[in-house]
Amino acid sequence: MFPIRRNRRLRSNEVIRSLVRETIISPNDFLVPLFVVEGKGIKEEIASMPNYFRYSLDLLKEEVRLLWSLGLKSVLLFIKVDDSLKDNKGTEALNPNGLMQRAIKTIKDVCPDILVMTDVALDPYSSYGHDGVIENGKIVNDRTVEILAEMSISHADAGADFVAPSDMMDGRIIGIREGLDQSNFLDVGIMSYSAKYASAFYGPFRDALDSAPVNIQNIPKDKKTYQMDFANRDEAIRETEMDINEGADIVMVKPGLCYLDIVRDLRNTFEIPIAVYQVSGEYAMLKAASEKGWLDHDSVMIEQVTSIKRAGADIIASYFAKDVVNLIS
Ligand code: PBG
Repeated sequence: MFPIRRNRRLRSNEVIRSLVRETIISPNDFLVPLFVVEGKGIKEEIASMPNYFRYSLDLLKEEVRLLWSLGLKSVLLFIKVDDSLKDNKGTEALNPNGLMQRAIKTIKDVCPDILVMTDVALDPYSSYGHDGVIENGKIVNDRTVEILAEMSISHADAGADFVAPSDMMDGRIIGIREGLDQSNFLDVGIMSYSAKYASAFYGPFRDALDSAPVNIQNIPKDKKTYQMDFANRDEAIRETEMDINEGADIVMVKPGLCYLDIVRDLRNTFEIPIAVYQVSGEYAMLKAASEKGWLDHDSVMIEQVTSIKRAGADIIASYFAKDVVNLIS
C-alpha cells in the first residue's frame, strides 16, 4: 500500500521533531562583532543598526562581561577612527597605543579567556575608505599586504588571539603568516575573509565606522577591484584554496544569507573550519521589517542563523548573537 513511508510521522510533535533535528544552535556557534569608539561613557546606537551600539572602552568592559556570562566567548573587534587620524597608508593602525590595541588589552584585562579576533584592514584608517593604499590611481596590492602584516603583528603584540584580514588583497595570508612567525607569534591564528563579495549589504557597517569608500582619482566608490563579483561561484573555491595554502586557520564566506550556495561548496570541498558573516545589511533588513510589523523578528532570526549553520558554517559572525542566545537559553 502506498505510501509505506509517511514522513509526517517524524514531524508530528515537538518531541519527535527535536529528536531528529539535524542542526542545533548554541552559544558556541557565535562570534560577536563589537564596535569600539574613543571617549568615556559612550554607548551610542548605530542609526541603521537598531539596538546595536558603539562602545567606549569603559563600557566595552561591561559588555564583554555580559557576553561571557551568556556563553558568548569570542569577539571580533572593529574600531571607529577619528577623521584627523586617517591617511592613505593607515599610519594610525600601527600605533601601539591606538584604539584597537587598547581595546584588545582592555578586553583581556576583564576577561582573559575570551577569544579576541581583530579586523585587519585599512579602510577604517584610510582617508578614502579603501582597503588598500592608493598610488597613481590604483589600489596597490603588495604595499598594502606589507602594512596588513605589520598591523597583524601589532594586534598580536597587544594580545589578540586571531587576526581577521577582511581586505581581499592577493597574498595577504602568507604575508601575515610570515610576519607573525618572524615575530614569534606562532600561536596567533588567522581567520581569513576568503570569499568576500563586493556587496551592497555592507552599507550600515560603513555608517557604523564612517568608512564608506569615496571616489578618488579614477577609483570608483566601490570595492569591485578587490572584493569578489557576486555573480561568481567557482572563484570562491579558488580564493579559499589559496588562503588555505597560504596558512589560513579558518576561512570565511561573506555576506551570509545570499551566499549559502558558496558555504555549501566550501563545506563539500575543504576540511577546515568555515565562518559565515551575517552582515550589517542582513541585520538591518530584519530589524526594519519587524519594526513595521511585517516579519516576526525572533522566528525569522532563528530561521536565518539555523540556515547558515545548516549550509555548513562552523562559526557564525552575527549582530544577532546576543538576541539568539537570550532567546534559546
Ligand atoms: C572592511 C569590512 C567591511 C565589513 C567588515 N570588514 C566592509 C567593507 O568591506 O566595506 C562589513 C561587515 C558588515 O557589513 O557587517 N574591511
